[in-house]
This record gives sequence, structure tokens and C-alpha cells, in this order.
Amino acid sequence: MNQVIDNIKQRRSIRRYTEKQVPRDIINECINSAIYAPSSHNRQPWDFTIITNKKLINELSDSIRAWYKSIAQLSLPLSFIKEVRKSAEEMMKRVKSEKDLFFYQAPCIVITHAPNKRFFAQDCSCAAQNLMLAARSLEVGSCWIGFADIVFNKNNNIKKKLNIPNSHSIMATIALGYPEKFPESALPRREPKKVWIE
Ligand SMILES: Cc1cc2nc3c(=O)[nH]c(=O)nc-3n(C[C@H](O)[C@H](O)[C@H](O)COP(=O)(O)O)c2cc1C
Repeated sequence: MNQVIDNIKQRRSIRRYTEKQVPRDIINECINSAIYAPSSHNRQPWDFTIITNKKLINELSDSIRAWYKSIAQLSLPLSFIKEVRKSAEEMMKRVKSEKDLFFYQAPCIVITHAPNKRFFAQDCSCAAQNLMLAARSLEVGSCWIGFADIVFNKNNNIKKKLNIPNSHSIMATIALGYPEKFPESALPRREPKKVWIE
């Protein structure tokens, strides 16, 4: 239809990356696109922490794994509830896997963070979407890692390690990297209920 709409429809969450690092100027271009997102009262609350250090990414992934392992074990007494059991089993599969099923071996992680104030989460989500769309337009794959957001917000030591102010919330953790191949088509979309009021 046009380039913007094509780009929106071609973005997919990528869960397999090659080892090739994303060059710094490309990451900067993605962040420069992120900051053109709308924000409430134009407050532009976002800050970004960019991690390209493989060892640190592995350490963060291990922290996420350890946290979910403890949660899955804690939820065992509630495993008679079907939903709890299913999600604990699902999580244990990720935790036990030899592969990194949290960051998918992505060579770059961009964390969007901001103070925890009204509308800042929405502002940062707009920025994160811009970042992922810009990445796609530059042939870089991305995936929002909500599992990481949860753990990073629970664990002040991780924020400290990453020099993220304690007063900031982690709003969006985005994996970036080059996929071997972009998926051909989008996942099917639910037909939303549309109510026209004329
Ligand atoms: C807030 C949010 C959190 C997400 N967290 C994860 C995650 O932790 N791990 C993951 O593999 N995908 C995660 N995703 C990606 C979704 O699973 C994905 O967007 C959805 O399945 C649709 O696929 P698509 O992005 O390829 O269109 C997340 C997406 C959003 C918006």
C-alpha cells in the first residue's frame, strides 16, 4: 500500500539471531526513530540502556532464568489450579532448556526505562514500537522481551549493575539482531470488534 504500512506489516518478533552484531550507527538510528514517538505533554520520558556485551547478556539471561525457576517452584503448591500448573510447566521448559529462551542469543539488548509516572509506560511503548519498526526497515530483527521487564523491575541489583536509576521502571526490553531470514508472513490477526458510531 505504502512503505510505512508495508513496514508495519512486515515486522515480526524474531526468536533466532545470527552472531553478527548490529553496528552502533544502526542502533543509534533505531533509537533516533524511537524518540520521534508521541508522548504525553511531550515529556519524552525515555532513556535507553544498550547492551552489546555478550557476557553481560548471558549473565542477565541467567538471572531471568534463576528468577523464573524460583517462581515456578513457589507456585507448585498451587498446581492443582490448571492455569497455574500450565504456566509453571511452560516456564520450567524455558528454564530447563539448553538454549537461551529468554534473549534467544540476541547480540544486542535495548532497555527503555523511565520514571514510573502517569503515561510514561504508554510513552515508552510508543517509543519501543518505533524502535522495532525502524529496526525492521534496516533489516534488523527485534523482539520485545516482557519476561525480562518483569524480572528487571523486581530486582534492584540488576538496575544497579546496569546503572539504571532505582527510580526508573523498565518499560520495554527489546532484543535486536540479524535473523537468518525474516518470516514470510505475519501471524494471523484476530479480527477486532469494530463499533462505528456515526
Ligand atoms: C509487551 C510485550 C511483551 C512480550 N514479551 C515477550 C517475551 O517475553 N518473549 C517473547 O518471545 N516474545 C514476547 N513478545 C512478543 C509477542 O509474543 C509477539 O509480539 C506476538 O506473538 C505477535 O507476534 P509478532 O510480533 O511476530 O507479530 C512480547 C510482546 C509484547 C508487546
